Amino acid sequence: MAEAGTLHDAFIDELRDTYDAEKQLTKALPKLAKAATNPKLRQAFESHLEETQGQIARLEQVFESLDEKVRGKHCDGIAGIIDEGKSIMEEDFDETTMDACLIAAGQRAEHYEMAAYGTLVAWAQAMGHGEAAKLLQQTLDEEKAADKKLSGLAEGGINQSAAESAHAEKDEEQVAAASDARKTLAKARRR
Ligand SMILES: [Fe+2]
Ligand SMILES: [Fe+2]
Repeated sequence: MAEAGTLHDAFIDELRDTYDAEKQLTKALPKLAKAATNPKLRQAFESHLEETQGQIARLEQVFESLDEKVRGKHCDGIAGIIDEGKSIMEEDFDETTMDACLIAAGQRAEHYEMAAYGTLVAWAQAMGHGEAAKLLQQTLDEEKAADKKLSGLAEGGINQSAAESAHAEKDEEQVAAASDARKTLAKARRR
């Protein structure tokens, strides 16, 4: 029987998964940036793309610090999140609604990464890989900051303006319905 895997094996596996996730994100972030209308949102995606490239380099340092070959392993989780983001971009939303949806898609990815790096930091610390833990913590902090920035943009105007345009449509529907009701009433009176 093969020897059972250890936490160290699981740690290396998780590092490979995360390395691949970051690589997938470097292809997805430019698409999110391109689809964004709000200039601050576009800028947020673009600057996180740069950070993501740094995070890939940092993961390579982590592999080296552990004397492990730099290698990725397909990350199904982030692939699913990216696919969902692609479907959103194919929707015919008004600009500000699209921005709100791009933030939602981006935050799903950030939270996935925060969960992955949170685990990696904890495992690195538990196994006494101090250098790896320090590097992974730096990335975890960047992911948290990116998530916070997206929340700030959503709550600082994008959601509100999307909500206003949603209600404007509703108001028009109500005006149209009221006018139909008046016409029906007038017709009934004429009879
Ligand atoms: Fe990342
Ligand atoms: Fe990220």
